[in-house]
Amino acid sequence: MKSGQYIYNVNYNEQDYNLCAFEVKALFDDELENKVLFTNKEIDPSVSPFLKNRIKIIYKKKTFHEILDSILADDFRANDFMVQYVAMYKRDPNISQGKKLSKEAGLRIYGYPSFQSPKIMLGITYYQDYWYFGYLKQNNFKWRAHKQKPYSFSSALGVNMAKVLINVASRGDTSKRLIDTCCGVGTVILEGIFAGYDICGWEINPKVAELARLNLTHYEYNAKIVTGDMKDIRDFYDVVIVDLPYNNFSHFDGEKQWSIIRHAKKIANRMIIVTSADIRENLYAEQLKIMDYCRAEKTIKGDFVRYIWICEN
Ligand SMILES: C[S@@+](CC[C@H](N)C(=O)[O-])C[C@H]1O[C@@H](n2cnc3c(N)ncnc32)[C@H](O)[C@@H]1O
Repeated sequence: MKSGQYIYNVNYNEQDYNLCAFEVKALFDDELENKVLFTNKEIDPSVSPFLKNRIKIIYKKKTFHEILDSILADDFRANDFMVQYVAMYKRDPNISQGKKLSKEAGLRIYGYPSFQSPKIMLGITYYQDYWYFGYLKQNNFKWRAHKQKPYSFSSALGVNMAKVLINVASRGDTSKRLIDTCCGVGTVILEGIFAGYDICGWEINPKVAELARLNLTHYEYNAKIVTGDMKDIRDFYDVVIVDLPYNNFSHFDGEKQWSIIRHAKKIANRMIIVTSADIRENLYAEQLKIMDYCRAEKTIKGDFVRYIWICEN
């Protein structure tokens, strides 16, 4: 059985399975076998479209009563706290008992509870024959407001994919300096800022670059959007994200795209490239190491397909 300091659960729509598994692998270096993960890595669930809850485990016991006994024995103290039962998977037999279980645990905690605006969230859950109690962090879903950004266009990515790009780029390390070289209306930049990254964008089309700036201003986010050709970028970054323009890989546009990829190679050792076609042979030909890739579909019918390539020099 897997173990770790943290227990997380994920949820996704059927068509997002690949995207979720790809993100989990990049963040936790783990396979998505089911919807529950044990790991020592601390990630805020709100940076992800798929992570729902994280419990930092304090007690792991065979019975719920042993959890209650441990709270009492340790004289567990907290103020402005709230205890919540978290169902980590659909068929959790305790879901209907959740309120009662939370109350029983809460009554054994020394301190004042707060149900309106708790400062400390505590979680209880049951998974594969064990009970867990610990500090709970939940996805706040505030990022969903970005779905209504004021300006968009047909080539803009969805919010889920934009969040995954940030996470696979950084592997959850918020100290990484990121750049989105063809940032369009700033969909990826918004998620980068939301998750706390130093990220900037370049966009060749002045009107589109201005829309990206207006989108950022709308959410009171601060990031530099440079109007210009990404081939003029001279700084070096930890990771470059390239949502390729002219995304049909026609003969006509091919050279433009490869010139973008070749320049991206010069400004970071790690690259996240988004394409509408399978370009693996070309990436090999460019001497790029493909570390992982994902084929993501936006609808079950598969009429919107994007490949995300993680490459290193
Ligand atoms: C696929 S769109 C990016 C969409 C973006 N991810 C979003 O969600 O808004 C590609 C963008 O790259 C821009 N572009 C094309 N060539 C460029 C270049 N050489 N340097 C910078 N931007 C470029 C296009 O104007 C277009 O807005």
